[in-house]
Amino acid sequence: MSSCQLDSDDRRDLARRLMQWFAVHARDLPWRHDRTPYRVWVSEVMLQQTQAATVARYYRRFLKRFPTIESLAGASLEEVLKMWEGLGYYGRARYLHQAARHLVATNSGRLPSDRDELQSLPGIGTYTAGAIGSIAFGQRVAAVDGNACRVLCRVFSIRDDVTRSATRRKLKEIATNLLPEQHAGKFNEALIELGATVCTSRSPSCQLCPLADLCRARAANEQETLPVTRRRGKRPHYDVAAAVTIGDDGAVLVARRKLDDMLGGLWEFPGGKCQDGESLPACLVREMEEELGVIVDVGPPLTVVEHAYTHFSITLHAFICRLVDGQPRCLDCAAFRWVRPPDLDELPMSVADRKIAQALVEESDHRATGK
Ligand code: ADE
Repeated sequence: MSSCQLDSDDRRDLARRLMQWFAVHARDLPWRHDRTPYRVWVSEVMLQQTQAATVARYYRRFLKRFPTIESLAGASLEEVLKMWEGLGYYGRARYLHQAARHLVATNSGRLPSDRDELQSLPGIGTYTAGAIGSIAFGQRVAAVDGNACRVLCRVFSIRDDVTRSATRRKLKEIATNLLPEQHAGKFNEALIELGATVCTSRSPSCQLCPLADLCRARAANEQETLPVTRRRGKRPHYDVAAAVTIGDDGAVLVARRKLDDMLGGLWEFPGGKCQDGESLPACLVREMEEELGVIVDVGPPLTVVEHAYTHFSITLHAFICRLVDGQPRCLDCAAFRWVRPPDLDELPMSVADRKIAQALVEESDHRATGK
C-alpha cells in the first residue's frame, strides 16, 4: 500500500490525526519559538545528523553569538567552527558560513524562499530546502528526513532500500500526497517528531502512536525490520599517531587541517595513519616530515584516545615530541601555530584532539603541583 492507494478522506484523516497528536506532544525545542528563516535554517542544518536534545544546547549558544545572517557572515570560519566544536560533521558549519557570506554579498543577507535558489546554496539539499520552505515560508512542500522516512516505510510497508535515491524520491512523493492544504510545515515537523519520539528505530512505542491502527508494519509485526537499509560492511579501524611537540618556551605545535578534508579547518596535533608494519614512532617521524617539513624526536606516550566516526574508527596515540631539525612550514596542512597549552581551548578542535589537549594540560598541572 502507498499513500496513493489511500483515498483523499483517509489521507486527510491521517494528516489530521498526526497534527492533533503533534499539538499535544510536540517537544518544547528552542527553534520552535520565534521562527525566522535564518533560525529555521540553522536548526535544520544542525539537525541533519544530530539528535534534537544535543542540538538544543548548541543552537541556543550559536544563535546568541550569531543572531543574524550578517553576524554569521562577519565572523571568521574559526569562530564558527569553535561554536560547532563537538557537534561533528563540520562541513555543515563551513557551508553555513559560506552560504551566509554569499547571501550578504548577493541578497542583502536574506534567505531566498525559492526552492531552486535555496538548493543552490552550499549545504542545502532537498530535505533542508523542503524544511525551510514549509516551516519558514509556509510552502506546501514535503521534508522527509530519516525520522519521517522510518514512519512512512512502516505505515505504508515500504520494503525498498532507503539508501537508494529512487526510494527517497518515492517517499517524498508519498509525503507530498499526504500534505494538508495548509500548515505543511507543521505536518512535516509532526511526522519527524513521531519518528524521533514514538516510531523509533528500536523498540517503537506503537501503543502511543496516533497512526497505529493504520500501520501496515504493525499489522504484520514487522515494525522493527523496516526501513530496509543496505547492510554496511564492518567499519575499518586505524591506528593513528599524533605529535605533541613542545618547544623550549613550553608552547606546543598545532596544525590546521586543509579546508576540503574531513574535519577541515579544525586544529590538530599533527600526525597520521600508521602504515602496515610501521611502528608508531616511525609513523610520527614520517608524518611530521611530510606535513610540516621537520624532524622530531619521539618521546614518551601522553595518552591514547579511542574515537568512532561514521565510516571508520581510530585509536589515536599521542606522544610528546621535540623538534630536532628544521623549521615548520605547511607542506600538507592549511596553517601551523605554536600555542601555550592553556590557550588551546580557544582553537576549534575535533573531539579526539581536544582529549589530547586536555591530557596535556592535566599532565602539566600535575607536573607543576608535583602530584
Ligand atoms: N529533525 C529535523 N527537523 C526537526 C525539527 N524541526 N524538529 C525536531 N527534530 C527535527
